[in-house]
Amino acid sequence: MRFVSVVGARPQFIKVAMVSKMLRQFHEEQIIHTGQHYDYCLSEQFFQELAIPAPDYHLACGSTSHGAQTGAMLTAIEQILLKEHFDWVLVYGDTNSTLAATLAAAKLHIPVAHIEAGLRSYNRAMPEEINRVVTDHLADRNFCPTEMARQCLEREGITGGVSVVGDVMYDMLLSVQPLLAERAAQLLPRLHVEPGNYLLATVHRAANTDDPRTFHAIAHSFNKLKYPIIFPAHPRARACIARYHVALKKHVLLIDPPGYIDMLALQRSAFRILTDSGGIQKEAFFLGVPCITLRSETEWRETVVTGWNTLAGIHWRQIIEAVARPTPAPVEKKLFGEGDAALRIARSW
Ligand code: UD1
Repeated sequence: MRFVSVVGARPQFIKVAMVSKMLRQFHEEQIIHTGQHYDYCLSEQFFQELAIPAPDYHLACGSTSHGAQTGAMLTAIEQILLKEHFDWVLVYGDTNSTLAATLAAAKLHIPVAHIEAGLRSYNRAMPEEINRVVTDHLADRNFCPTEMARQCLEREGITGGVSVVGDVMYDMLLSVQPLLAERAAQLLPRLHVEPGNYLLATVHRAANTDDPRTFHAIAHSFNKLKYPIIFPAHPRARACIARYHVALKKHVLLIDPPGYIDMLALQRSAFRILTDSGGIQKEAFFLGVPCITLRSETEWRETVVTGWNTLAGIHWRQIIEAVARPTPAPVEKKLFGEGDAALRIARSW
């Protein structure tokens, strides 16, 4: 069968790396890169490090408003789908690239498979939530990472074509885990931090960056924390720091977004992780590092109910309290699968 994977943003490159590798053992696959992420550190770096096959199409859609960006992708993807006659379109996660590819394929009656289906934050103010809901409802196959995700789909009446396969990001993490200790040993001295004695922080969500007061509140809590903080800054977060004249104290070290393995190494050795990213909440859980989520809801409720993730919002008092919480008990159950999610997806055709 002929598949096409459509990706465009950093977390999707991590997901397609594993799926592509497995899928190409059994089928033909091409990759369309929408160009939603275009900076080296958010895109090319991942293709190189994870040995992702070079995209067959690069659409260079770039950053604009949601409508303009999604519309440009939709137009360009439709042209390719009309020409190539793929059997299936594979979409990943919840970005505007996911939505555009799903709409383009559905209108051309080409079946869509959604990888990382069934996630819900139940907050429609998040663009990602809208992308997920539309994608899950239009997809012909929904591959859920967890049982909770399957239940979310069931509540919305989506039961056909649904399977719980595990999380492809967990597969990916397991494949590089043996490299992390050595990578951390190289990296931490350069950043002047010691294992277990620093915090790792990321902020990039529109809800946390678009309003200066919210961004200032987060920065204020970072300034108040009594640990060194490594802060890999998404270009949007860096722009906010400049635009809103945010003064970060000396213990907050801004760095460029690292590659995949370096980022995992930084997570693995952190005392606690503070983030508004979905993927990092999961990776913290996989690595056994307590996470403090800088949002008031999450689509990864498994991490919260097991005690490994605290929804602290953006208020400094709650964030400081959450950082001080004791480490929870280990979770024995494999909530995110056995590390073979990508293989199970590839074999399901
Ligand atoms: C997107 C996804 C989000 C995902 C994130 C991963 C949507 C709606 N959001 O958010 O779900 O968690 O990717 O990082 O699809 N920018 C650059 N260089 C780049 C890309 C973006 O500087 O290579 C800046 C631009 O100013 C742009 C802003 O970042 O306007 C936001 O980029 P965009 O792709 O719209 O959303 P993300 O916040 O990255």
